[in-house]
Amino acid sequence: MTGTTRAVRFDSYGDVDVLYVAEVPTPGAAPDGVVVEVRAASINPGEAAIRSGAMAEMFPATFPSGQGSDLAGVVSAVGAQVTGIDVGDEVLGWTDERASHATHVAVPASQVVAKPAGLPFEVAGSLFVAGMAAVASVEVVDPQPGETVVVSGVAGGVGAIAAQLLLRRGVEVVGIASEANQEWLRELGVTPIAYGADAAETLQRLRDDAPDKIHAWVDVFGGGYVDTAIELGVPADRINTIIDFDALQKHGVHGSGTTDAATADNMAALAALAADGDLEVPVAATFGLDDVREAFRLVEQRHTRGKIVLIP
Ligand SMILES: NC(=O)c1ccc[n+]([C@@H]2O[C@H](COP(=O)([O-])OP(=O)(O)OC[C@H]3O[C@@H](n4cnc5c(N)ncnc54)[C@H](OP(=O)(O)O)[C@@H]3O)[C@@H](O)[C@H]2O)c1
Repeated sequence: MTGTTRAVRFDSYGDVDVLYVAEVPTPGAAPDGVVVEVRAASINPGEAAIRSGAMAEMFPATFPSGQGSDLAGVVSAVGAQVTGIDVGDEVLGWTDERASHATHVAVPASQVVAKPAGLPFEVAGSLFVAGMAAVASVEVVDPQPGETVVVSGVAGGVGAIAAQLLLRRGVEVVGIASEANQEWLRELGVTPIAYGADAAETLQRLRDDAPDKIHAWVDVFGGGYVDTAIELGVPADRINTIIDFDALQKHGVHGSGTTDAATADNMAALAALAADGDLEVPVAATFGLDDVREAFRLVEQRHTRGKIVLIP
């Protein structure tokens, strides 16, 4: 394909000011790949951590770096070996190349699935990083009907999806979030508990207000919640964290995340749930590509309900 793609780039680690939009040649489709004209690509906090350099040891960047994994859009080119996908198809999927915050992205055909007709692009473009982390978190704690499972960080992108997947397993979900999210969480069917000013206060609230027996814990916030879970007697092998990597060594808890569930089948299943109205993925705000700095400023406040999405 010829033409120009507008793509988010950064040339060094730093705050949001290092982000800019570059004009680059539009990628072509690999023989086993497709090019997607991106209609929506959500932002994930990990992208901010990569850009700032906070995760440079675990996830180094090479410069100039693009960014973005989640994507939904319309297929604009198809590789010679690809069958079953045509130009004009609406798809959702992901790239492993930090490249979806752009008007066009080339991906392997195995990393896109058909977008259900009724699913808004901004929801479809929010399902990979957060959705697959939620799927992995729920699977690994092995929830059984009738059990109680706590989700710490329940109002964010991963937490909101994880909580709803847990509810579908017939468990009682206790969700930790700020006061501002309590009513919405109740509407979802989650039993909300507001976090306190510090870990000790939150622990006391859980002792006072959560069911006596907490069977499992899905931590998607970090900040010492795994310690709290252990303190409350949750077995280490029923705890998963996607962010508190120190806790993996310290307590022997699970650390399953996006890559552990990243399959086209899981993407198609989540998309179907969302399209059928069985999974709510709130989109807190959308931004054009030129407002990418503002979008990240909002994400980095860490109080997003659901997702923040770029609309290239
Ligand atoms: N390992 C992996 O594969 C993987 C995958 C995805 C994400 N992650 C990581 O997991 C974390 C969550 O990702 P995300 O996309 O869900 O983030 P997010 O959407 O930005 O999460 C924001 C949420 O955090 C909540 N929050 C803020 N302070 C809190 C506190 N003290 N206690 C409990 N909740 C609090 C906020 O709720 P209130 O507004 O109510 O405070 C808000 O809804 C990030 O650190 C991300 O990097 C890891």
